[in-house]
Amino acid sequence: MMKYEKEINKRRTFAIISHPDAGKTTLTEKLLLFGGAIQTAGAVKSNKIKKHATSDFMEIERQRGISVATSVMSFEYNDILINLLDTPGHKDFAEDTYRTLTAVDSVILVIDSVNGVEDQTRRLMEVCRMRDTPVIVFINKMDRDGKNRFDLLEEVEKELSIHLHPMTWPINSGKDFKGVYNLHDKSLVLFTANTKASDDEDVVTISDLNNTVLEDKLGDRDAETLREDVELVDGVHGPLNIENYLAGKVAPVFFGSAVNNFGVKEMLDTFITIAPAPRSRETTKRLVDVQEDKLSGFIFKIHANLDPKHRDRIAFLRICSGRFERNKYYKHVRLEKEVRFSNPYSFLARSKDVIEEAYPGDVVGLFDTGGFKIGDTLTEGENFYFTGIPSFSPEIFKEVVNKDPMKTKQLEKGLLQLTDEGVAQLFTQFGGNKKIIGCVGELQFEVIQYRLLQEYGASVEFRAQPYYKACWITSTDKKKLDDFTRFKSSNIAEDKDKHLVYLAQSEWFLNTERQNNPDIEFHFTSEIH
Ligand code: G4P
Repeated sequence: MMKYEKEINKRRTFAIISHPDAGKTTLTEKLLLFGGAIQTAGAVKSNKIKKHATSDFMEIERQRGISVATSVMSFEYNDILINLLDTPGHKDFAEDTYRTLTAVDSVILVIDSVNGVEDQTRRLMEVCRMRDTPVIVFINKMDRDGKNRFDLLEEVEKELSIHLHPMTWPINSGKDFKGVYNLHDKSLVLFTANTKASDDEDVVTISDLNNTVLEDKLGDRDAETLREDVELVDGVHGPLNIENYLAGKVAPVFFGSAVNNFGVKEMLDTFITIAPAPRSRETTKRLVDVQEDKLSGFIFKIHANLDPKHRDRIAFLRICSGRFERNKYYKHVRLEKEVRFSNPYSFLARSKDVIEEAYPGDVVGLFDTGGFKIGDTLTEGENFYFTGIPSFSPEIFKEVVNKDPMKTKQLEKGLLQLTDEGVAQLFTQFGGNKKIIGCVGELQFEVIQYRLLQEYGASVEFRAQPYYKACWITSTDKKKLDDFTRFKSSNIAEDKDKHLVYLAQSEWFLNTERQNNPDIEFHFTSEIH
């Protein structure tokens, strides 16, 4: 047995992802109830930013403040230690979500049975596919009149390019919703609204679907339909191939209603059985085996303390191998220095506790005064970075206009630190010094403006730029790349790591340049390492 095998095998680190309003917060809360981490419903402060708050930036910051506490929620269920990483629901913070997905080993995707696949669902799944992250699908709101179950599954399969494998099967939806049939352990789970976490009295085990108990429970018509559906579904799918799930090729599907705590336990029980424990990870140098004795981990999220009196930030470290210990020295690879942490904390949902040790799969909050940026690695001496932590092509661009020349230095520092945190991306015009900020959402500009002033005393304005996308450009033909950057110099910028970026005014320009320059590769994401 390897040194930390027991600790590693008991951990499951995952995130719940969904389009806003599909039910992520509600499902999170039910999972915490099962884990005994909270006692009553309504105890989880949602970190979601309500739609009406989009103009109320202070409200957003207040909510972001709350969200630190719920960034990671750890709880035990049936001897498994579950680390649930929260992701912001608001689309303007989508990059935060994408990066959090690099720190999990699997995800649960919530889909609203009425709305089916939505915008954010698509984007989030794209990110999961980049890493072949195993996915379990929870089809929520079965108590509403949703789409036809077969049509819905087909839509999800087609839109998200993933094979689905139903684990439970619904009996009707909306006000006729009667429950689900568990295809795996052949039991009928009858729907009752607002089921308590431990309630299992409405489960009927059915060894033979022809048993007339089905008629008693469901009525003739629904019993017959269920038999037909099950025959069809079983015929197509057979038993779940766990290898395919672990490879991100097949997603087990559960139907339920989060707000009624229905169908959630079936999913959770399957989740702890099949979801992967922390796995080995690729780095710039070698594969780091999760069972190695030596510590390694990376920073995937940085949360600033918005109180100007406390300039510290919290950096979130995902542990990938070894044991993390309080007060022990580790190597900060990028800064080439030894660092130690006297108050690392864990995120057991009941409280934020200082911890003595942590293991692969765990996330530790480290107080930081500005030494970390996203993608930084801690090791016990070796030099490498974990790969696959992407920067995404931003979609809104603005030039930074300094309103107070006396504060130029503070501004430069502020811009560097905020972009290290991953709030936005900074581009410098090629051969010039125009600074352009690229974000995925408008809200970030407000956040940046506010924080530059509050934390750095720098006052800025933004000037809109007519770009539609930023693409990182590379080529094996150096001359062609040089020529392209020269001819297009007004559309070329450098990112913070001096990588070349092409700023396209429109899709048409982008397509034209791609066609005219077949030797140049246009990338829509850039890996930090
Ligand atoms: P999100 O985090 O994905 O954005 O979604 P959230 O859980 O906040 O759920 C969005 C809305 O959908 C909430 O209603 C929630 O109560 C409701 N909901 C969640 N699960 C179900 C379900 O299984 N069936 C039905 N019918 N509704 C569900 P809301 O009115 O926006 O908020 P609230 O005032 O009820 O909290």
